Amino acid sequence: MDTGFYHEPVLLKDVIDSLCINKKGIYVDGTVGGAGHAQAILQDTKGFLIGIDRDEEALSIAAQKLARFGSRKILVKGNFADLSDILTKLNIEKVDAVLLDLGVSSHQLDAAERGFSFSKEAPLDMRMDRCQRLTAYEIVNSFSQRELERIIRDYGEERMAVRIARTITQTRKSSPVETTVELAAIVAGAMPPPLRRQQIHPATRTFQAIRIAVNNELDNVKKAIEAGIAALKVGGRMGIISFHSLEDRLVKNEFRNAQKSCVCPPDVPVCVCNKEVKLRVVTRKAIMPQQEEINLNPRARSARLRVAERV
Ligand SMILES: C[S@@+](CC[C@H](N)C(=O)[O-])C[C@H]1O[C@@H](n2cnc3c(N)ncnc32)[C@H](O)[C@@H]1O
Repeated sequence: MDTGFYHEPVLLKDVIDSLCINKKGIYVDGTVGGAGHAQAILQDTKGFLIGIDRDEEALSIAAQKLARFGSRKILVKGNFADLSDILTKLNIEKVDAVLLDLGVSSHQLDAAERGFSFSKEAPLDMRMDRCQRLTAYEIVNSFSQRELERIIRDYGEERMAVRIARTITQTRKSSPVETTVELAAIVAGAMPPPLRRQQIHPATRTFQAIRIAVNNELDNVKKAIEAGIAALKVGGRMGIISFHSLEDRLVKNEFRNAQKSCVCPPDVPVCVCNKEVKLRVVTRKAIMPQQEEINLNPRARSARLRVAERV
């Protein structure tokens, strides 16, 4: 079906195989998007799928694409961080697998008016959930220089954060920064000349940082891992695909912590933390796409899939 929405699902076979999706289970796709993974999950099983997305537009496309699966799926507008509440409302206690394919879809990136892309003129928006109040405009035009610097440094891993934050706050004194292209030019102008000629656009990291801040992305992933652990049956699996090192590191560390049996300081003679082991990490190293997939879908090049099993 041509819905005009395009997004090539990444690491599709690895997701299906590593989440052991092959039976009549209950599966959560917390980032249903254009329903690429969701279709494969429903096609390959007799299972039931709960598809969640913050983006109304993505959900209505997913509804069209998944229509043929009738009552074997339910779509929910919501934040995957609220997975526990979502499942409680649906009267579902435990599930067999949880998938999160993080970030934005190709469709969201290419829809100029959403303001995710620095190469398409649009108002500074970047909200995945368009009912949310905080936008990129507000961050860029009203956050303090210090706060901007922290966001750009911590969420963009940008070495030039101080210069960029300073240039933004100086520029907005004369008039607000209105569009993506304006912001991209301000960021590029703040860079020392050799850094303006990098392979990636000089505004890439700053745009990533502001998007993460607008959508509270890292906190949401942390909460979703906790909620996913609580929702999984013993033997159930959680798979998370991330697209940049910050996210991947967060997933790796959260999985590892959930695998630990004791977190007492080394000088405590007897364990007092009583920590429970909740997960077994299945992917010692993240699964990465083969060159063949990258050739067909260049966006897949930075994808990393990590999988853990509930114990
Ligand atoms: C990379 S796309 C997913 C694509 C999907 N797997 C497919 O095959 O088409 C990520 C999707 O997750 C959604 N999203 C991101 N953060 C979210 C959150 N905290 N809660 C729910 N949905 C979220 C985005 O709106 C976007 O539609």
